[in-house]
Amino acid sequence: MASLCGLGRRGAAAAAAAALVFLLALASLPASASAALHVVGDRQKWAPSVNYTEWAARNRFYVSDWLVFYFEKGMYDVVQVRNETAYNHCQADDPVLNWSRGRSFAMQLNHTGPYYFICSRGYCYGGMKLAIQVEALPPPAPAPAPRPSAATAAGPRALWAAAAAALAALL
Ligand SMILES: *[C@@H]1O[C@H](CO)[C@@H](O)[C@H](O)[C@H]1NC(C)=O
Ligand SMILES: *[C@@H]1O[C@H](CO)[C@@H](O)[C@H](O)[C@H]1NC(C)=O
Ligand SMILES: *[C@@H]1O[C@H](CO)[C@@H](O)[C@H](O)[C@H]1NC(C)=O
Ligand SMILES: *[C@@H]1O[C@H](CO)[C@@H](O)[C@H](O)[C@H]1NC(C)=O
Repeated sequence: MASLCGLGRRGAAAAAAAALVFLLALASLPASASAALHVVGDRQKWAPSVNYTEWAARNRFYVSDWLVFYFEKGMYDVVQVRNETAYNHCQADDPVLNWSRGRSFAMQLNHTGPYYFICSRGYCYGGMKLAIQVEALPPPAPAPAPRPSAATAAGPRALWAAAAAALAALL
């Protein structure tokens, strides 16, 4: 029984720690809320016979956004090439990076300017390639006017109070 109690204690401590981590993550959200995650091709993923020019035109890409490629395992790869010439001619030799494992690849867009991706396995010639233009982060939206009650409840102090309450309840 004593050992069960011990386990319970440790479980509670772990749960409290998890709650704390979650709340800390929430508290830090405003700083990173502008980073978007773009699933290349949306539901059509990274595959042949998707027009990625049209997909790219429907999106805007900013520094610190994420690009995620989902693809059929073993069938396709993601090769970032250096320039428009390599993109236009489907030249996969001398890549910036080359990812062919698993079924997904994620990368953060960490600079402004063009990024070019192709599939090196012949499908590039059919249009399986992507060119995007990454823009600098837009200036942050003006801070919303302070509202009396509900709005302030989500402030960092409220989150700290919630974290403390979560710890107190679980320990
Ligand atoms: C474009 O990239 C290819 C392959 O990496 C390279 O051989 C070529 O010199 C580059 N062209 C320009 C204009 O930078
Ligand atoms: C990508 O990497 C794989 C495995 O390392 C390799 O077989 C393939 O030739 C590479 N492709 C390119 C375009 O570099
Ligand atoms: C940007 O990311 C690439 C890999 O995706 C990395 O090689 C490069 O060092 C990064 N640049 C900066 C400025 O973080
Ligand atoms: C993709 O769509 C654009 C714009 O509609 C078009 O100009 C282009 O030819 C298409 N590309 C392919 C490979 O079909």
